[in-house]
Amino acid sequence: MLALVPATAQLFVDCTIGGGGHAEAILSKLDSEVSLIGFDRDVDALATANQRLANYGSRVVLIHDSYANLDRHLGVAKMGNVDFALLDLGLSSLQLEASNRGFAFQKPEDPLDLRFDRTSGEPLRVKLAEGTSTDELKKILREYGEVDNAGRIAMAIATAVREERLQTVADLREAVTPCFRGGKRNQFLAQIWQALRIWVNDELHQLEIGLTKVVQCLRPDGVMAVISFHSLEDRMVKEFFRLQENPCTCPKDLPLCVCGKKPVLERITRKAIKPTEYEIETNPRARSARLRVARKLAVC
Ligand SMILES: C[S@@+](CC[C@H](N)C(=O)[O-])C[C@H]1O[C@@H](n2cnc3c(N)ncnc32)[C@H](O)[C@@H]1O
Repeated sequence: MLALVPATAQLFVDCTIGGGGHAEAILSKLDSEVSLIGFDRDVDALATANQRLANYGSRVVLIHDSYANLDRHLGVAKMGNVDFALLDLGLSSLQLEASNRGFAFQKPEDPLDLRFDRTSGEPLRVKLAEGTSTDELKKILREYGEVDNAGRIAMAIATAVREERLQTVADLREAVTPCFRGGKRNQFLAQIWQALRIWVNDELHQLEIGLTKVVQCLRPDGVMAVISFHSLEDRMVKEFFRLQENPCTCPKDLPLCVCGKKPVLERITRKAIKPTEYEIETNPRARSARLRVARKLAVC
């Protein structure tokens, strides 16, 4: 990761600071002039990052908000002046291991919350009880979890909601178990949990807005790196980079561009970078990680 940070970097934005692991690794290797602005929607994550990065004092500013709102916090002086921006998407190990969040289907007693930001929005169990239709649920499961028998699972969840027996992780497991058609049980549950978590946190919409804002916050030659953990996110990032690199909409047979759309980014990685075997061995959760990196063009 450090190799991606421009040598002359002064301002680094970690859009998803989590416990501050990446931020610390980067700050510890950089010049003492570099400052960091870190975002997270989770106040617990920010508290952990705050402790971990305490030695860096006023060089670190932590902000409780979605990276999709980063322009509101960076202000005019910093927008367009960021040297390096990192998005490490999805869920942290801290969140997965925490009790009372509902992120892990292995923690039966946990309430069905699944929010990154517990200070706003509604927990999953409340959102479901507010009358989400079976069709909407089916769409969520199919689109965000790429679940096969989404219709049946949606009906099972809707029935459990109607009968008021959906409060905990164990309740959701019990409701969907009859829909399991063989294969890997953990994979089946992981897809359902992923779909519902993406929905509760509006994750793909945040990413769509956030990617554009991150490009705007970079200085010319600034670099953005995005780590995603499932194909939906990775596809979005790949398509976004491709369009920013080649936005021209002119018919292919036109000798000259007349649409006037100029490239904004240059991809540094053509293909997503996958973790090495050593990385997967030391951190099995990294196995589905995909890293894509792009540089903002100097003239755009
Ligand atoms: C994979 S973890 C990041 C781990 C971090 N890189 C580290 O080294 O500890 C992803 C983090 O992003 C946060 N997050 C998810 N969506 C977010 C959003 N739209 N804005 C800000 N933070 C978000 C989550 O709360 C979580 O803490």
